[in-house]
Amino acid sequence: MTVKPAARHYLQFRDFTRDEYNHLFERTRWIKGEFKAYRRYWPLADRTLVMIFEKASTRTRLSFEAGMQQLGGTAIYLNTRDSQLGRGEPVEDTARVISRMCDLIMIRTFEQSMVEQLAAASRVPVINGLTNEYHPCQVLADIFTFIEQRGPIAGKTVVWVGDGNNMCNTWIQAAETLDFKVHVSSPPGYEIHPDQLGLKDDSHFQVFADPMAACRGAHLVTSDVWTSMGFEAENEARMKAFADYCVDEEMMAVAAPDAVYMHCLPAHRGEEVTAGVIDGPQSVVWDEAENRLHAQKALMEYLLLGRVDVK
Ligand code: CP
Ligand code: NVA
Repeated sequence: MTVKPAARHYLQFRDFTRDEYNHLFERTRWIKGEFKAYRRYWPLADRTLVMIFEKASTRTRLSFEAGMQQLGGTAIYLNTRDSQLGRGEPVEDTARVISRMCDLIMIRTFEQSMVEQLAAASRVPVINGLTNEYHPCQVLADIFTFIEQRGPIAGKTVVWVGDGNNMCNTWIQAAETLDFKVHVSSPPGYEIHPDQLGLKDDSHFQVFADPMAACRGAHLVTSDVWTSMGFEAENEARMKAFADYCVDEEMMAVAAPDAVYMHCLPAHRGEEVTAGVIDGPQSVVWDEAENRLHAQKALMEYLLLGRVDVK
């Protein structure tokens, strides 16, 4: 009897090596080029992606659903409200059933531990589409966007201004994997917990009390909502705590002259970023959003087919 190798999953950024990321970025570039030239590429014909959403989404749903269709496959949307997950069916049983019918699972939920449980019981690859702890698909697209706009990210400095949240955690893991530096500036009470990120050491991030100091000389400045999904009850306290953590023209002025601004979106102009910055010349947020589509197509291709030769 031949034993099928266990499925690879993409649950946090450090699940892949630098070499695998280099492959994914090359494939993203090629897949994007084919799509832009209206050339059909259907390597996932007859394959089915299940997307489970326990939180709201615009970009993640669009990019996975459109991406799977553009690769020749099908995507099915499930949410907690209309599926048995919301009525207490164990996540392991859900994983076993999906594994018998479909080829790939993308899940957006609250605790990372839920995604880990799902993956442990799944015979098919599981992708983290955002948890309270991580958002690896977004940072995958963000780094592709940086490379596309400015070249290699190794040795560069990324600034995170704001909450020590899922996006921030993922940037820190990415810095270690791809050898760049993250400057983190968060208000008291909303700092990062690097001991929970499974890092080898502390050499790829630095904490700054002053966001202006964090931005000095940086190549990429990024911020995110002050209140992430699932933390809405804290909104009032967060509005006060984050008041000095708005990325504005002054912060961009002390960054490198060719620095880019990124935001995973949705954005709140006047809170975590001024309209002048997010709608200004250094902002690459629309390329960043579009690249979710291309990068995740490369990710799904890799998880289902392994290394397809870079053309
Ligand atoms: N950036 C992001 O994941 O967007 P959605 O919440 O709209 O999916
Ligand atoms: N940190 C945000 C990202 C949204 C894409 C959240 O978790 O709500």
